[in-house]
Amino acid sequence: MWRYEAVLPVAPGEHRVTLGEGMTPLIELPHLSRSVGGGRFWVKDEGLNPTASFKARGLCMAITRAKAMKLPGVCVPTAGNAGIALAAYAAAARIPARVYAPRTTPPPILGSIRAFGAELELVDGHIGDAGKATMQFAKDSGFFNVATVREPYRVEGMKTMGYEIAEQFGWQSLPDAIVYPTGGGEGTIGIWKAFKEMVEWGWLPPRIALPRMVIAQAAGCAPLVRALEAGSDRATPWENPMTHASGLRVPGPLGDRWVLRTIRESNGGAFAINEDAIRAATFELASQSGIDAAPEGGCGLATARAMVAAGLVNPGANIVVFNTGSGASYRW
Ligand SMILES: Cc1ncc(COP(=O)(O)O)c(C=O)c1O
Repeated sequence: MWRYEAVLPVAPGEHRVTLGEGMTPLIELPHLSRSVGGGRFWVKDEGLNPTASFKARGLCMAITRAKAMKLPGVCVPTAGNAGIALAAYAAAARIPARVYAPRTTPPPILGSIRAFGAELELVDGHIGDAGKATMQFAKDSGFFNVATVREPYRVEGMKTMGYEIAEQFGWQSLPDAIVYPTGGGEGTIGIWKAFKEMVEWGWLPPRIALPRMVIAQAAGCAPLVRALEAGSDRATPWENPMTHASGLRVPGPLGDRWVLRTIRESNGGAFAINEDAIRAATFELASQSGIDAAPEGGCGLATARAMVAAGLVNPGANIVVFNTGSGASYRW
């Protein structure tokens, strides 16, 4: 991702904490495109990042800043994958790290957090409960809290996904729709920021149409879908959040206003997919493409299909779905 360092928050000569994140493959899947019903269809496989999810990008950026600012330690609440990324980049930077995760987080993810040497605290409840514990710990310890959208740098790392889509489309065109599995919102917010920046900076052809940003949520935890349907610019917390796509189990997203604004500005949409449909689409994606689909990526595929069926895009639309993590993190 450091190919874009000129537009990332680092000073010349400053140390970049890097593990080889970014420039993940954009894989075209013609046979899935037929079954989804759009035009051309691609999956951007973020599971191939270090630490096996897109979270590597944001935490790479945040830990690079934390190192430059000589912070004594870092902590984060996580639905899982951000915890692995924090642990790994903190290890690379040799900064102490503490992670708060729900007890129900898939065991391979918890194992990875421990393997990278972070202190792991298991919390009863969901990521919101982990967030409260993290805030208290940050206050008591002086460790810096790098929770989603509480600091500015994670989104800066995330925006490189938007630049990459433009680069992988040859800087000449963009997909008609991007489907992003969304919990707290930093991936969605980052990609949209990148598109707006590229327009402002003249990186894209004049008057290019920007993609519709379409978010994928689980029916058991869909606060952003509900807010969009209600015409609200804030999401009210989802009661009793449940989904096996653990990255989407974010009942009270802190970035709600930005995500909702992104969907509206881009004429996008939001869909909630039930657990059986997420499971079926995850298996379909993996078994029909060889991409190690995470449940969140499966939710993305099911959302693409729902989006075409709902008439949000034309039947010939070019669609990119993000597989945000790796199926391996969810098998045990
Ligand atoms: C694999 C995966 N996909 C999607 C998400 C949701 O991302 P965000 O919170 O940036 O919306 C997460 C969050 O943990 C995740 O781990």
